[in-house]
Amino acid sequence: MTRESWATRFGFILAAVGSAVGLGNIWRFPWMTAQNGGSAFLVMYLAIILVVGVPGLLAEFVIGRRAKLNPVGALSSLSGSRGWGWFGLFNVLTSLVLLSFYTVVGGWILRYLVASLSGGYFASPGSFFSAISFGWGAAGYGVLFLLATAAIVLAGVRRGIELGTKLMMPAIVVLLVALALWAAGQPNAGAGLSFFLTFDPGYLRAHFVSVLVAAAGQALFTLSLGVGTMITYASYLDEDRSLPSDGATIAVLNTLVGVLAGFVVFPLLFSQGIDPGTGGPGALFVSVAGAFSAVAFGRVVAVAFFFVVTLAALSSSISMLEIPVAYLVDEHGLSRRRATLLPVAVLVVSGAATALDPSLFSLFADTMVNLMLTVGLLGFLLFAGWVLGPDALAEYVLGADGVGRATGPAWLWAVRTLLPLFLLGTLVVALLALAGVTAPLVVSVLP
Ligand code: PFF
Repeated sequence: MTRESWATRFGFILAAVGSAVGLGNIWRFPWMTAQNGGSAFLVMYLAIILVVGVPGLLAEFVIGRRAKLNPVGALSSLSGSRGWGWFGLFNVLTSLVLLSFYTVVGGWILRYLVASLSGGYFASPGSFFSAISFGWGAAGYGVLFLLATAAIVLAGVRRGIELGTKLMMPAIVVLLVALALWAAGQPNAGAGLSFFLTFDPGYLRAHFVSVLVAAAGQALFTLSLGVGTMITYASYLDEDRSLPSDGATIAVLNTLVGVLAGFVVFPLLFSQGIDPGTGGPGALFVSVAGAFSAVAFGRVVAVAFFFVVTLAALSSSISMLEIPVAYLVDEHGLSRRRATLLPVAVLVVSGAATALDPSLFSLFADTMVNLMLTVGLLGFLLFAGWVLGPDALAEYVLGADGVGRATGPAWLWAVRTLLPLFLLGTLVVALLALAGVTAPLVVSVLP
């Protein structure tokens, strides 16, 4: 049986952008920005995307396209070592941990989408969120979101993922632009935009390390790095694509959508007099929803907003599910149908547990994700830089144009030395904070 592949280059780019653009851009990015000094965070985040994100993305692409296999198969076959295969299994586990909480948040979004139709949360957005966020109802909606994800993955690389993202991505961009234009017309919108865009060097100087760590975590999460998603997606690529230019395109498009989401969220919050820096992610959820209840045509706008978020979340969750699926198809010869149903069965249980237990949710969404993605990307960089070495460079330049080829040696150098050191540094800072040696870096995920 021949392995699946993308039908077009555009299809691959859209699928990868679909993976990158998700709850990370629309929910986590504004929250992180608000909590870390607005534009100070934005500037740091942009710098890290450029210096760490794009080279890291390319490391995953190089490994995936070289091996044409899932992370487990790719790492073990390219290195000839079982040890790296175990690291690949750690990546598969990471994808399951991610999906366990991502489907719960996806379920919240579905619930808000439904409730927006009737304005169900308009009367008291705060108590609505506390009522729906955890419990059997949350578990049920989470499973619904999981089944939607599974249906797309089940249809295959071309007819499921590629077709699905081709339909979803344009809808996301068009609706977000419309929402941003609408938000710009709200009273006091300018204050929101200036919070988002006016650079405050004093804040950055005073909180350099915490902004740096938060921005690094966000950069990894938003580009879907450190799990093996991008290895898996690149494994369906042919040799004639330029990895450097595809990688740059994906990073730019993902960043644009993130910034666009900021153009919706901040003016909206400021127009309602809501301080975006208070109370963490759940509160942002509550405050955006609360803002809809206060504006004209709130229901229509709310439906559009939560529809965008649903599409963005789906196009990301399919890329997470594709990791265990590709692993089971490649390494254990399962049909796509069985390879999809098996992880879905596991996720029904782990997702329900996450929806029932807020502390498990926090552990997954906050602590474990940050650590697992950092360790994951660290491993991929060391693998590309030291295990593949010159072969990684050969793969990098294959199909690249002049500019892409010229960046190759600098890329290999960074992947070998600078970037692993940087990630190791953020890992140490995060672990020290976790162990209570230094002040905590992130607030709890609950409102
Ligand atoms: N990039 C996605 C987002 O911003 O929501 C999250 C994500 C998807 C992370 C896939 C990791 C991953 F493998």
